[in-house]
Amino acid sequence: MDHMIDAEVLDLAHDPASEFRAAVLNGLAQLQKTIPSKFFYDAEGSRLFDHICALPEYYPTRTETGILRASVGAIAAALPPQVVLVEYGSGASVKIRLLLDALDRPAAYIPIDISGGHLRASASVLAFDYPKVAVIPVCADFTRPTALPPALPEGPRVGFFPGSTIGNFHPPDAKRLLRSFHRQLGPQGRLLIGIDLKKDPAVLHAAYNDAAGVTAAFNRNLLVRANRELAASFDLDAFEHLAFWNPAAGRVEMHLRSRIRQTVFVGGRPFRFAAGETIHTENSYKYSVDEFTALGRAAGFATVAAWTDARQLFSVLMLADEG
Ligand code: AVI
Repeated sequence: MDHMIDAEVLDLAHDPASEFRAAVLNGLAQLQKTIPSKFFYDAEGSRLFDHICALPEYYPTRTETGILRASVGAIAAALPPQVVLVEYGSGASVKIRLLLDALDRPAAYIPIDISGGHLRASASVLAFDYPKVAVIPVCADFTRPTALPPALPEGPRVGFFPGSTIGNFHPPDAKRLLRSFHRQLGPQGRLLIGIDLKKDPAVLHAAYNDAAGVTAAFNRNLLVRANRELAASFDLDAFEHLAFWNPAAGRVEMHLRSRIRQTVFVGGRPFRFAAGETIHTENSYKYSVDEFTALGRAAGFATVAAWTDARQLFSVLMLADEG
């Protein structure tokens, strides 16, 4: 594939609307009400998340980019030529350019993302900018078993999972996900993964309670989405953003807290809230390199290299088959 302007997307996504409906109805019926964080990312949620990434308090994005910039030579030196790059949750495919620029003749790039429109646009631009790389976008939820497209180039596979997205998974689910990446990448495969490190809780608190209120809007957008897509009756002013470091669990938690006693209808079903009761919307686990190495080991990976910024805020790890 020499030059591909209009990247053709392999579409493996199923019905996201009915999935959201089932998740909200089921989640609000639990004792601790919950809506899974993967539903944050509708068009508005993705826009708000991009805004979060540029906030002064939200250090992960620019810190990881800085690590990648500083270490991309060492990363490239540790990888064989003509790799097949697979990015899990590729979004706008920004960070991958650092790798594509530094690697020795990358053979293919397979961005996997649930958002087909976004994926098509960013894959087409990449295909134009990197005419020697076969860009093969796959529209899919990478948290579900996803087969890679048939007839991929032969080269060793390198998974790319930046942004500390792994932190949004409960550790047993994170282990399962890593195991599925391990299977997909094969025994010669490598996984380059970004993890957010444990740190001063004040730094974490600021990152998830930004002064401009963008994270609060991102959190509350779940209710906007439920009102629009599920004919729910959430009064946005009756819920407030809550984000805090839970030291025992090693995670930042996000919730939406009901300011008052109220009943909300979703799809005609009533859900009662006591004043102060919350909907748990996200966990963001933070790890030490050793803790994450242990998690990777349980999924069949060994940590072969770890790069960190000077303030030890974030780390990019290279994992390989434990052998
Ligand atoms: C996507 N994920 C790694 C972000 C995080 O930090 O856990 C999502 C996010 N939630 C609030 N701010 C950013």
